[in-house]
Amino acid sequence: MKFISVFAILLFVTSSVSVSFGQGVVIPIETENVAAVLKTDVNNRLKIVYFGRSLSDADEYARTEDIFNFHTGGAASNNSAYAVAGVDNNFTEPAIAAVHADGNNSLSLLYESHTVSQTDEGATLTAITLRDPVYPFFVELFYRAWRKWDVIEQWCVIRHAERGEVTLHKYASANLYLNARDYFLTSYNGDWAKELQPVVTHLRQGMHTVESRLGTREHLLTSPNFMLSMDGRADETHGAVMMGQLAWNGNFALQFETDVFKNLHIVAGINPYQSAYRLKPDERLETPRFVYTLSFEGTGRGSRNLQGWMRNHNLREGRGSRLTLLNNWEATYFDFDQEKLVSLFGGAKELGVDMFLLDDGWFANKYPRSGDHAGLGDWEVNREKLPDGIPFLVREAGKAGVGFGIWIEPEMVNPKSDLYEKHPDWVVRQEKRPEIYFRNQLVLDLTNPDVQDFVYGVVDNLFTENPSLAFIKWDCNAPIFNAHSKYLERKKIPQSHFYVAYSQGLQRVLERIRDKYPTVPIMLCSGGGGRSDYNLLKYFTEFWLSDNTDPLERVFMQWNYSYYYPAIAMCSHVTDWSRDRSLKYRIDVASMGKLGFDIRVDELSERDRLFARQTVMNYNGFKNIVWHGEMYRLASPYENDMASLLYVNEEKTEGIMFNYLTNWRYLSDASLRPVRLQGLDEAKMYRLTEINLYDGTRTPVDSKKVYSGEFLMKAGFNPLVNRGRASVVIKIEATE
Ligand code: DGJ
Repeated sequence: MKFISVFAILLFVTSSVSVSFGQGVVIPIETENVAAVLKTDVNNRLKIVYFGRSLSDADEYARTEDIFNFHTGGAASNNSAYAVAGVDNNFTEPAIAAVHADGNNSLSLLYESHTVSQTDEGATLTAITLRDPVYPFFVELFYRAWRKWDVIEQWCVIRHAERGEVTLHKYASANLYLNARDYFLTSYNGDWAKELQPVVTHLRQGMHTVESRLGTREHLLTSPNFMLSMDGRADETHGAVMMGQLAWNGNFALQFETDVFKNLHIVAGINPYQSAYRLKPDERLETPRFVYTLSFEGTGRGSRNLQGWMRNHNLREGRGSRLTLLNNWEATYFDFDQEKLVSLFGGAKELGVDMFLLDDGWFANKYPRSGDHAGLGDWEVNREKLPDGIPFLVREAGKAGVGFGIWIEPEMVNPKSDLYEKHPDWVVRQEKRPEIYFRNQLVLDLTNPDVQDFVYGVVDNLFTENPSLAFIKWDCNAPIFNAHSKYLERKKIPQSHFYVAYSQGLQRVLERIRDKYPTVPIMLCSGGGGRSDYNLLKYFTEFWLSDNTDPLERVFMQWNYSYYYPAIAMCSHVTDWSRDRSLKYRIDVASMGKLGFDIRVDELSERDRLFARQTVMNYNGFKNIVWHGEMYRLASPYENDMASLLYVNEEKTEGIMFNYLTNWRYLSDASLRPVRLQGLDEAKMYRLTEINLYDGTRTPVDSKKVYSGEFLMKAGFNPLVNRGRASVVIKIEATE
């Protein structure tokens, strides 16, 4: 509590030389527990005067300005709502840098007007217009505040009415000032099969930037997700923490700039790298959303805020259902034919999953897709492997009682393909330079409307031919090297528009797909977890976290992803990546996401087959709690020899607890102490039953005993995880 009150007082930044007291327009952006307050100063510049806990009397926000006393000559700190380059006493990192049509590179933005309205979905939308007093140049700042989830989305629209183009060298989505004493930033490193590895940085001085320049597959080496603890490191249940993401399927930059007072200036937006934008008169450039929550009760609450907001307002079909599946990728790779596939359908049926997913390798004839070196781009079925086509497979899957889904990678092309030969100008490449390949492939130029039609057609043709197609997996395996667009060149549009135009082109295609096919489940995959931004997840129902499906690695990885995403979006498959973990361990880990299998069912022993089938039935029994319930991370694998997570339904009558051993050493002390549960009703009595057990296995968990919610949350419960019980799944039910 002490911690929280210190934070509440400190979240204020005074302006530099033009501090104004009293008068001015005050604009509070409020959710249930969070407020960002903007106020004009005597010169009509818009400042951030408060960023912290909401107050019950909104009139008091105007006074927050008086409680700090940073002595500055105007050079050290700047709390502008949208910092500019050139003029305005600003020496801090700008959110915007523009060169006007007449070549002048100064910018000043003054408050002009604002509106507040309610959106259809119940958010409060505040739109503020700023304008340059000398040039007809405008920035509209938008803040969409979700009261219930304590989530704020911030973006802006830039426009002008000058006599010619204005060049924007930077056009960030959001600009914030925080005024805690200390900041610990969690950002993420990554690579293929090593996605979302947390790195904590104690921000003390200067600029810390987290950015991507990969074009597509933008999360491969880092992530637009961040977590910022203030005044010490927050944990799951304590501390002030800001958590969020730049919602952009393209190059991003998150900048954290600490000044002499330890004020923190955050600038988040599209990466300006090679992306100067020439804005025509009356054209509107809309930036992506910067999405964040503030929690004053640690990272657990912050995650539940983001997950709830995602499920209810951002993720496609977030309140809906999902299909469990059997995928053939790791079971066959490219080595399959019609008979082999049909023979696998029975395995899906036997497991009891909803559908079979045919992965890479089903297409191309001139250069058959028999490996990853050829065929990409030629989306006609390979006649040798699949003589009766996809409709036959859809029918056969139907006969076996399962749905049928299919893999595509429509943004990409192998140089060894008919598409490349016919349309070299559709490919992102520098004609005068050698091509650089990533997984033997190149990226198609989605700035080009013809390419957009082509990519849309890949999906549309599949559905036209197979109206009952159940699912699509949309892959994207290469970043962009040698960024250059023949289309932009022909249209005399600067190449510096390329990265933005690519991302917008992809978005346009997805809009069209969703207009026609609004609900069909589509998985966002990117050579593992190279894409998982909130922007694309408006179009996708789920995403692939990583090709690394070693269940021990997955415990850590799913833990990290859970800070920002709900379990319903996280595809988690049981594979043979690591056979040194039991089938039970693998299934138990995959069951805390959206469950799938990528194994040869016919290679399982009879006992394992029966067990797997039973676990799928169990999953069907509790999946709604995992998908739509509240998640609590109870024991961190980073701090313990085990991990423990709990999902609880809204009524607090049912829960499902997952416990995993993460250290197999003899000296591991995984279960010496109880795990304290969270999110239950103190007054209710609960029965705990261990599930996902092989027939005849004895469990030390006595389901005849009942415990009060208070006992489980204050004293705790010991799942007794050890090497003989490396994963333990406990069903929790209120007894009345
Ligand atoms: C990368 C994906 O992450 C895998 O799951 C698989 O679909 C392969 N691509 C297929 O090429």
